Amino acid sequence: MTTLPTSSTPSDNPLITVAGAASKQGRSVAKALLASGRYRVRALTRRTDSPPVRELAALGAEVVVAPLELGHQADLTAAMRGSYGAFLMTPPIVKEPPADTEYTLGVQLADAAHAAGVEHVVWSGLENVEARTGGTKWAPHFTDKARVENHLRGLPLRSSFVYLAFFYSNFLEYYVPQRGPDGSLTFAIYLPPDAPMPFVDPLTATGPAVLEVFDNPRTYAGATLPVVGEVLTAREMVETFVRVSGQKARYASAYTRQELLQHFPAFGGNEWLVRELVGMVEYAVEYGYFAPGRDLQWSRRIDPNALNWEQFLKQSQWQGELMSFGSAPQAKPVEADVA
Ligand SMILES: NC(=O)c1ccc[n+]([C@@H]2O[C@H](COP(=O)([O-])OP(=O)(O)OC[C@H]3O[C@@H](n4cnc5c(N)ncnc54)[C@H](OP(=O)(O)O)[C@@H]3O)[C@@H](O)[C@H]2O)c1
Repeated sequence: MTTLPTSSTPSDNPLITVAGAASKQGRSVAKALLASGRYRVRALTRRTDSPPVRELAALGAEVVVAPLELGHQADLTAAMRGSYGAFLMTPPIVKEPPADTEYTLGVQLADAAHAAGVEHVVWSGLENVEARTGGTKWAPHFTDKARVENHLRGLPLRSSFVYLAFFYSNFLEYYVPQRGPDGSLTFAIYLPPDAPMPFVDPLTATGPAVLEVFDNPRTYAGATLPVVGEVLTAREMVETFVRVSGQKARYASAYTRQELLQHFPAFGGNEWLVRELVGMVEYAVEYGYFAPGRDLQWSRRIDPNALNWEQFLKQSQWQGELMSFGSAPQAKPVEADVA
């Protein structure tokens, strides 16, 4: 493995810009890079006063205001200037055609990195659902990330791609279990009961993966790297929750469009979001979340401490309530996380 030379003093360490540094993924990356002692970190954010950004500043990150929004190309280029590397990601965006927001934003980020002279970009991507399904499934937040990947691969810089599995935190943030009159919980899950699916904790798993890539740039040039905590079924997730939390809970299906809207009627306010959620889960179940041949063991090999669902539940001490991860209030066009 080739290793990026480390420098003797932290001020000489390579600078890595982290886009969306307050996000679950971004803060994991920023913290892992800083904790290694081998990198300086520039944290891009819309606002400097959120708890995660304050924490990153206290850990030594340089905080720069640069929104992940269209029309900020010059700001993004300026914000990345002087960086050796960049971790680039898009916030949750629901595609509402004809707008092509996520793809356009991703291309802007990539072009800003190139214009700023960044040598190595790590892009948080996902599979190309359109290509994998012959256009039969609608999951643009996957496909548009893959389109950005194609764009990055055409730029004269080194690029690597991490593909995060479904987040455990989706059940804490977006698909929160409902408590019935008897106190028991119903987990309405967007997956059939017995379909094994990859999940991950973005708060602890993204950083080690991206650190490994920046530490070994030549090894991972052009590589696509799944980041997985555990592959398990929805039924197993609920059973594990019952065992760890000591609470009564049951699985209910929110897999079909009808079931999704029955359990989460608020989603019905955005038809594009509903189409995207249904398309995404049908894709994952019928075709597999990751394309065949992906190395699903890679992230565990480089980070043996990656949390499985049981460890995540124990560490978070989650009891089934709605949880916020401390990022800033959402702004248009972000309405819900679609993955
Ligand atoms: N949920 C899943 O299962 C899953 C799985 C794989 C991939 N993904 C992908 O992961 C990405 C989201 O990552 P995440 O969950 O780590 O993000 P997140 O925790 O929801 O945070 C998004 C952050 O982006 C920053 N941001 C900057 N500009 C923004 C804007 N215009 N609108 C909203 N936020 C903006 C915000 O921080 P500031 O306010 O500080 O700027 C916010 O904290 C999405 O692209 C999603 O498709 C999700």
